[in-house]
Order: sequence, then structure tokens, then C-alpha cells
Amino acid sequence: MGVFENMLKSGESLFKDPVALDYDYMPKLIRGRTNEQKRIALCIKPLDQKRNGANMVVFGQSGIGKTVVCNHMLRIVEEETDEIISIYINCWQKNTSHKVAIELCEKLDYRLTHNKKTDELLDIAKRILNKVSVVFVFDEIDKAEELGFLYSILEDIYRKSIILITNEIKWAENLDQRIKSRLMAEMMEFKPYNREETEDILKYRKGYAFVGGVWEESAFKSVIDKTVELKDIRSGLYLMKESGNIAENRGNKKIEIDDVEKAIGKLDNFSIKSSSLLDDEIKFVLNIVKKNPQAKIGELYEKYKEEGGEKTYKTFQRSIKKLADNKFISIKKITGGSEGSTTLVDYSNIKKLTEF
Ligand SMILES: Nc1ncnc2c1ncn2[C@@H]1O[C@H](COP(=O)(O)OP(=O)(O)O)[C@@H](O)[C@H]1O
Ligand SMILES: [Mg+2]
Repeated sequence: MGVFENMLKSGESLFKDPVALDYDYMPKLIRGRTNEQKRIALCIKPLDQKRNGANMVVFGQSGIGKTVVCNHMLRIVEEETDEIISIYINCWQKNTSHKVAIELCEKLDYRLTHNKKTDELLDIAKRILNKVSVVFVFDEIDKAEELGFLYSILEDIYRKSIILITNEIKWAENLDQRIKSRLMAEMMEFKPYNREETEDILKYRKGYAFVGGVWEESAFKSVIDKTVELKDIRSGLYLMKESGNIAENRGNKKIEIDDVEKAIGKLDNFSIKSSSLLDDEIKFVLNIVKKNPQAKIGELYEKYKEEGGEKTYKTFQRSIKKLADNKFISIKKITGGSEGSTTLVDYSNIKKLTEF
């Protein structure tokens, strides 16, 4: 017994497998959500009998299992049959028909996509897909800039189920009539988890991620409290990882409530958006904005170049717009003034998640 009793020895870690805390880590088991899984299965089932499947719009706020449940269903389909191909595409990353078409071809192992037009690529994909049945999941579909690809798939692929995921129910309501009437989608809402469900999911992830017994009970309870309040499982995963890092950095063998409180202080909108969805360029731009509160876009571009940014002003503007669309930053157009109109960009007045 000594002062070092509660200290980590060098080389020791609180984490067993920190990857299990990644937002897009695929857990072996889905906890609960059995009704949701059943309804998705019913949409897909006709494909197994070589009939056309049903389509569905899955909606609900972020961090409540929409992506993981749909991906889990795709995994089941893949394990059970070779007759049904499953395709998952995130429209935050692939936000135009051209990008979707390339992605489709690549997923189907067709690699000669260079210099081909969108229609050509879609035709290639359709030819392959019409030999089998297919389940599509288009995640964050509201982030797609246009829906040409969806229309094309609806028209020309015979045996399919299309599942569209969105945080915005309004997106589905405002859908173009041409697509709506062909889609005839069933709507399925994901409701936020209650306390019990939240605790169950986080406990399960904790079991994979951490060495047994490193969490003080009160500290873990505080993670659950905050996650229940924010209604987003991702915030719980973030808090577990950060608290673990903070405790580890001070060399402690236990994660304590103070560590969680420090982690809560760091929680913001940016930290819980799946980081893999933000490419390095966008993260770089976001950092510039963070470091220069309330700046004009032209000034920011100068800083961007000073720090080694290489893209054109147009591309830079597009990154800024993307960040604003996703509420990582705010932009305000100012007209008139001595330099004509400009855009004021700000990070500081975006509400932190903990303030909602
Ligand atoms: N029922 C569940 N079982 C296991 N893990 C879950 C469950 N629901 C959510 N998660 C986990 O919580 C995080 C957020 O879920 P996700 O599916 O990405 O949310 P959404 O797509 O609704 O924004 C993911 O890391 C996911 O693995
Ligand atoms: Mg998702």
C-alpha cells in the first residue's frame, strides 16, 4: 500500500479496445430496436422470393441507432443469401448523382469509372444489379444535393428495396412528387432511447472498450445522465473516450467523476458528428474558423493559405458552406459597406451541445 497504489504503471492502459467507442464501430449485437428491425425485414422479405421489395423512410433525431440498425439488417441479408446484394451509401459524403454512381460501380467491383458520365455509370450498375435483387440504404439522404440517382434507380431497377435515412422528417414531406409517387415509402420513426435503453447500450460498449473495473460507479452514472439529457448515444461514447483519456493522462487507475466533468466541458456539436464523415480538408477549414472568430470569408481564406491550405477560393467557399449547412459554424451575409458584400463566418456563437 502506498501513494502509487492508484496509479497506472507505465505501459498500462484503461482501454482494452478503444475502437469500440468509435461512432461507426459495428457492434456484434444490436440492443433492442426489435420492432424496427422486424419492419425493415418485412420490406426486404419479398426480394427473397424474387419479388419487388418495399421502400422505407427511416427518420428520427441523430444518435439513436438509425444507421447501426439499418447496417445490421444489411449484414444479416449478406450472411443469409447471395441472391440479394446490399448497398450502403452515405449521402453526406456522396452528395451528387455522379458521386453516388461512382460509388455504386466501385461497390460492385467495377473500377473503370474514370472519365465516364453519370448516366453511363448508372447503366453499368443497373446491368449488374438487375441480375439479382438489391437492398439500398441511402443514409443522410437529406444531404444529397439532387436526387437524379434515386429517380433513376426507382425507374430502372426491378427488384429492390430502398431505405432512406434522414434526421429531418420535413425532407420526406417536401419530396418531389415525381419521386414520392414512385417511392411509395412506408415511414418509420425512431424514437429516442429512454434511460434504461441508453444505459444498456453504453454498458455494452464499455465492456468492449475498457478494462474491467476502471469506472467509478458515480462517474459512469454521470455519463449516462448527460447522454439521457442530450438524447444522443454518440455523446455517451464521446464522454467515455474523453474521460478515459483524461484519467489515463493523469496516470490514474480509475475514471472518476471529475474526469467526466472535464470531458463534458469539451463536448460540442463537432465532437459528436461522426468524425469519419468530415474529411481532412473540411476539418482543416473548420480549425481555421475556430481560431479566427467572427472573420470575413476573404480574411479566412488568407489565413487558410498562410497555414498551408492549397485549394482554390471556390473550393474553400464550398467547404464553408458545407460546415454551415451542418451547423458546425454560422455564416451571415452582409451587403453594402465599404468593401461591398461579404460573408461573416463564425464559430463562437454556435451553441455547444451541452447548452441545448
Ligand atoms: N440499439 C443499439 N445497439 C447498439 N448500439 C447502438 C444502438 N443504437 C445506437 N447505437 C450506437 O450509438 C451510436 C449512434 O448510433 P447511429 O446508428 O450512428 O445513430 P443515427 O444514425 O440515428 O444518428 C453508434 O455508435 C451506434 O453503434
Ligand atoms: Mg446515422
